[in-house]
Amino acid sequence: MAEIVIDGVAKHFDSVEALRHIDITIADGEFMVLLGPSGCGKTTLLRMIAGLETPSSGRILIGGTDVTALPPARRGVGMVFQNYALYPHMTVRENIALGLKVRGLDRAKIEQRIAFAANLVQIGEYLERRPRALSGGQRQRVALARVIAREPAVSLMDEPLSNIDAQLRTIMRAELLRIHRAVGMTTIYVTHDQEEAMGLGDRITVMNFGHIEQIGSPDEVYGHPANAFVARFIGSPRMNLVRVDRHPGAAMVETPFLRVPVPDGIAISPEVLVGFRSEDARPGAAEEGETEVRGQVDVVEHLGAQIELHFRTEDGQEVVVRRPRGENQWREGERIVLAIPPKSVHFFDAGTGAALTVPVS
Ligand SMILES: Nc1ncnc2c1ncn2[C@@H]1O[C@H](COP(=O)(O)OP(=O)(O)O)[C@@H](O)[C@H]1O
Ligand SMILES: [Mg+2]
Repeated sequence: MAEIVIDGVAKHFDSVEALRHIDITIADGEFMVLLGPSGCGKTTLLRMIAGLETPSSGRILIGGTDVTALPPARRGVGMVFQNYALYPHMTVRENIALGLKVRGLDRAKIEQRIAFAANLVQIGEYLERRPRALSGGQRQRVALARVIAREPAVSLMDEPLSNIDAQLRTIMRAELLRIHRAVGMTTIYVTHDQEEAMGLGDRITVMNFGHIEQIGSPDEVYGHPANAFVARFIGSPRMNLVRVDRHPGAAMVETPFLRVPVPDGIAISPEVLVGFRSEDARPGAAEEGETEVRGQVDVVEHLGAQIELHFRTEDGQEVVVRRPRGENQWREGERIVLAIPPKSVHFFDAGTGAALTVPVS
């Protein structure tokens, strides 16, 4: 088991700057998710940790050893790819055994490790089959078993569930957690799916355009996004961000359609984004200290357990509200008022996107 330190790592491919100055410390046994849109540099970072790509600058340490110049085989990492990378002409058992034979383990030990891993990922009955006789989900389990059997200190996974259908993906997610709890390997898991990241990660590193936007627990990145990018990227539907002019020094931001009390100590730039999540707004006039938003109902969507209300402020900014099923008194075209409690309101600088928070003195 091992701590991983990514220390000032940057990577460019000719003129393309894929990553700039990445610092992350991942604790021994932690499940860290790298989350971000396609092209933000997740795979490149994972491949550098695995040793398949060389950083342009910076260092990578695994278990206290600087591995930056070490070949993949000497880093003690196992990697699971999106496309499984199984050998088609070998049985499942042979696929799992291969990496163990290469490392010179004796037969009894190899059989013992295969049995343990196959049992953990529940593929015991397919050991004599070849990969083409397995479903996508089963192949992905074999790829996992191969890593588990090698007992690496670190396991690296690059969108391992993206080729699996939605229903099985949910099941596999729970299985990955169960396996992680049972084995305890330090794990770095790449995904562009925020829901997957929230469900799996002890912590999430949110990335964008080759840099880190925020590192935190699922609760932290959801409840205290560091900037407007994270606020929008985490959560579905996206956090509502309404742009308003601030009259500097005022304790209240006020427009014809919005009244937002500004907490003491928040220094606000001329233009502010006022953020709130769709589940935190309720219909009805605001009470003392609450934020009030007025507008018109555009569309009402019935989504089973919930109702999604698309609403437009007077100056045309779109807001989405989610309410429990049964609360369906809204009509399209109707003018309504929403109230949002103070703890659910976020402020961001409209220029830089940075969260505006009360300074801790
Ligand atoms: N071998 C390569 N040569 C040139 N550019 C690359 C190479 N690998 C990745 N890139 C570029 O680096 C950026 C990050 O890519 P990648 O790490 O694959 O992103 P992600 O996995 O987050 O989708 C992209 O702009 C991509 O085009
Ligand atoms: Mg990728």
